[in-house]
Amino acid sequence: KIAYVNGSYVPHSEAKVSVFDRGFLFADGIYEVAAVLEGKLIDNASHLARLERSVGEIQLKLPETLERIEEIQKELVRRNNLVNGMVYLEVTRGADTGRDFAFPKADVKPTLIMFTSEKDIINAPSAKAGINVITVPDIRWERRDIKSVALLAQVLAKQAAAEAGAGEAWMIEDGKVTEGGSSSAFIVTQDDVIVTRQNGNEILPGCTRKAVVKLAEERQLRIEERAFTVAEALAAKEAFTTSASVFVQGVVKIDGREVGNGKVGPMTARLREIYIEFAR
Ligand code: PDD
Repeated sequence: KIAYVNGSYVPHSEAKVSVFDRGFLFADGIYEVAAVLEGKLIDNASHLARLERSVGEIQLKLPETLERIEEIQKELVRRNNLVNGMVYLEVTRGADTGRDFAFPKADVKPTLIMFTSEKDIINAPSAKAGINVITVPDIRWERRDIKSVALLAQVLAKQAAAEAGAGEAWMIEDGKVTEGGSSSAFIVTQDDVIVTRQNGNEILPGCTRKAVVKLAEERQLRIEERAFTVAEALAAKEAFTTSASVFVQGVVKIDGREVGNGKVGPMTARLREIYIEFAR
């Protein structure tokens, strides 16, 4: 397996950055995850646009153009013979030995790394069966719209989910669901309205969320972008999550209680098919 590190393609065993890297010391970095389906990057323009926005929000200048970054992503897919999976990319404010909290001098070059992982997203067993989610308080900072590598809250949330035999944690703030640990959260009401929280500083603007909302609107499906409570989710017909790593993924239980009939619902299955068709 080959990774990309600051201009070089190297085996994973040699893929290293400095202990002084600000990503390591301060989580001073941004990441993106784009899916690969049949060797092709999925919705990558949307991921690159979000990358550009995230780095802009933390005043970090990308060391390469977006065009060049996409070339590297594709080259890495090629070198790894990746058919189905993901490309992870991370850019940090570079390595600087001073451990100054403030930004380093302009001659410190940002770190850019990428690696791939294999995953058959389409045939994942959880796609058919759906997943259970647990709810946890959302203890993150107030700029969740930035795809920062500071993921400790999500690490703890998803570990709690794993220990409970659940596939995701839905995070709760002021009684409302913000989003999943690494996914956007949706419900389908009893009268077939698709509901997902509006974008803002409280959630990451999911690329898959954006595509699903657009695809649903194009098909005249009813969509409401607003916050919802766990009680609403439990009273809903269906619930699901979206992300580059699962596409559209049914949620069949929340905190041990069934959503709808406890099976992946027809709207979820339809949106999943529509999304996969769009991705292909
Ligand atoms: N996570 N919300 C959060 C907090 C996320 O971390 C993610 C993605 C999403 C969905 O965004 P998108 O549809 O653009 O993947 C929503 C990635 C997959 C991860 O951390 O692995």
